[in-house]
Amino acid sequence: MTGLLEVSDLDVRYGASQILFGVGFTLAAGQTLALLGRNGAGKSTTMKALAGLLPARKGSMRLAGRDVTGAPPYRLARLGLAYVPEDRQVFAAHTVEDNLLIAQKPGPEGETAWTLTRIWESFPLLVPLRRRPAGRLSGGEQQMLAIARALIGNPKILLLDEPSEGLAPLVVASIAHLLRDLRAQGATILLAEQNLHFCLSIASDALIIDKGQIVYRDTVAGLNANHEIRSRYLAL
Ligand SMILES: Nc1ncnc2c1ncn2[C@@H]1O[C@H](COP(=O)(O)OP(=O)(O)OP(=O)(O)O)[C@@H](O)[C@H]1O
Ligand SMILES: [Mg+2]
Repeated sequence: MTGLLEVSDLDVRYGASQILFGVGFTLAAGQTLALLGRNGAGKSTTMKALAGLLPARKGSMRLAGRDVTGAPPYRLARLGLAYVPEDRQVFAAHTVEDNLLIAQKPGPEGETAWTLTRIWESFPLLVPLRRRPAGRLSGGEQQMLAIARALIGNPKILLLDEPSEGLAPLVVASIAHLLRDLRAQGATILLAEQNLHFCLSIASDALIIDKGQIVYRDTVAGLNANHEIRSRYLAL
């Protein structure tokens, strides 16, 4: 299968300890793929490697048919890969609107579908906060801003690392709603999560990573119905 993102056989280490072992998968255009796994399984390490923030010792990565193995983060961003880290990393001293304006750019093929106007329409909760410094937002508001900031760069692929983590149930529900809307609009998303329940309504397909290896791949519905796999690899 040719995909928008094709990852094959990635090994990643932190110093002497190897964390990822031959990670590979394909993400097709318009697909929403959940990368599930327990604490410490290697989800964030995978996301960082895909974003160009950690070097791979082995393996390759293709983005829209182009070999981008070893490419630096800024180049991957220009080619349409938007990464929202676990800790969000909004610019705390800048206002919500400035966070968005700083990140605004056309996509790799000149796409301009995401404008500031469309962001305000899609993220109505951010509108009354637009002059507030991002550091004074709640965790959920910062998560929304981080996703909005990724979108306004008109990416081809969104990499989201645990967007539901540490947030209150109501906030998690509104982020899920937002991601469902993005999926309906045809966005291509890789979503790292511990929480299968959160992924059920968002992702079409699922991968499980365990001890740095991809151990399972199916539809999200198939995974949800597979009690043995869920209890073996996920904290459920
Ligand atoms: N900077 C680092 N240096 C050394 N080891 C690290 C570093 N960051 C993570 N690790 C180790 O790499 C492994 C995978 O961590 P990773 O953060 O990718 O897991 P995760 O699946 O994202 O977990 P979580 O659900 O807790 O976010 C863990 O064993 C972790 O201890
Ligand atoms: Mg993580």
